[in-house]
Amino acid sequence: MNFSLKKDFRLGVATASTQIEGGDAGSNWNAFSAEGKIKDGSDVSRATQHYRLFREDADLLASLNIRDYRMSLEWARIEPKEGVFSDDALLHYREELSYLNSLGITPLITFYHFSHPLWFEAKGSFAKRENIGFYLRFIERCLARLGDLCSDYITLNEPNVFASMGYLSGEWPPEETSFFTMIRVMNVFIEAHISAYSLIHRVRSEAGFGASHVSFAHSMRVFTPFRKSIVDRLSASLQRFLFQDGLARACFTGQFRFPFRNLGHVKRGQYADFIALNYYSQSHVRLWRGTLPPRTPVNDLNWEIYPPGLIECCERCFAMMPVPIRISENGTCDNDDRFRARYIAEHLELVSKSALPISHYYHWCFIDNFEWKEGESARFGLVHCDYETQVRTVKQSGHFYADLIRHGGMNDDMYRQYVAGQTYKLANSGKESINRVDAAGVKN
Ligand code: BGC
Repeated sequence: MNFSLKKDFRLGVATASTQIEGGDAGSNWNAFSAEGKIKDGSDVSRATQHYRLFREDADLLASLNIRDYRMSLEWARIEPKEGVFSDDALLHYREELSYLNSLGITPLITFYHFSHPLWFEAKGSFAKRENIGFYLRFIERCLARLGDLCSDYITLNEPNVFASMGYLSGEWPPEETSFFTMIRVMNVFIEAHISAYSLIHRVRSEAGFGASHVSFAHSMRVFTPFRKSIVDRLSASLQRFLFQDGLARACFTGQFRFPFRNLGHVKRGQYADFIALNYYSQSHVRLWRGTLPPRTPVNDLNWEIYPPGLIECCERCFAMMPVPIRISENGTCDNDDRFRARYIAEHLELVSKSALPISHYYHWCFIDNFEWKEGESARFGLVHCDYETQVRTVKQSGHFYADLIRHGGMNDDMYRQYVAGQTYKLANSGKESINRVDAAGVKN
């Protein structure tokens, strides 16, 4: 197995401030984990201490040949009280961005990655349309201080995931379980994204900072009916529309389809300069729930591994908005780094063969980190973090990734060294498979 990526293809990594920085920023996640709500009892204030160790981490990125870095800004640190902006925090991010730039690493900044200040939570956060102005003011302040150091931005990370986990399943803060509130939150997010898109372009251009590239990071998965029954087929299409397609269309173009609604005065237009797509898995839908068919390859969180879905999702988005595509997240929970290299190789091989204009791939994640409700127990990193000592150790998959960048793809030697012999667990069978996963599933 070997493949070559396009000449200018960029391989980077992604992170999010709350998941790596550590400390008590005064965010919704600080409060949630302090209440003991994380499955393994860990606390987000430990994480990987990146706030303190950002230089060391940037050096590590550079040593792995990584020149593209998706990161987020922690709103709660920057605006700890309503309307009060912290010079220290803004200076900190200025130093971090300048340091990355000095190493030749191009940042891609996410303004909102699931976390906000507690004062914003108290106001009802994104469940209320009138709160969008707070989010926009935060962005404007950040751009005034940091906008010269970065040209590429993501307004919101996965509005659909945050809305469904926080307002439908209730597993994340604020632990609500109302379908109608989830839809309202999605509607508010759509308007927030579209307003932020225009704001970022306007502010950076007025400041003379040069061209901006702006999008929102959309979580996509493949929804496949478990059986051929009409019920499973209908349910899969409905979930596909509610969870991703309806929201994507509205965010990309300002065109709303029920139950998504134009709450304000959003005009039709183009609200993405590139598609930012986060892809992890496929759902087999049985009635309303996801079900794993027997012998499905799964990761350590029992998420189905289905590489062809990455391209299928890119195609769906591209059909709605034909602009360049960045895979802004893709990766897997593999606590012992037993199959991550295989996972990366299988996804990137398909990217290399695709005719779509895919320009970037940001692996999730650079370093093991605080995985939301799973806390420290789910490891997604190319780099291992010992949370007690904060020692970083590059995993085999991290060395593989560095070689992928160096060679612009994978040759036969790399395949033999890193990938050959790696196996996936097969769901409900107690067995493993070493054969590759393709559109027809795993072949043993
Ligand atoms: C999120 C990340 C998360 C990853 C793995 C994505 O949905 O953006 O924050 O850690 O998935 O669960």
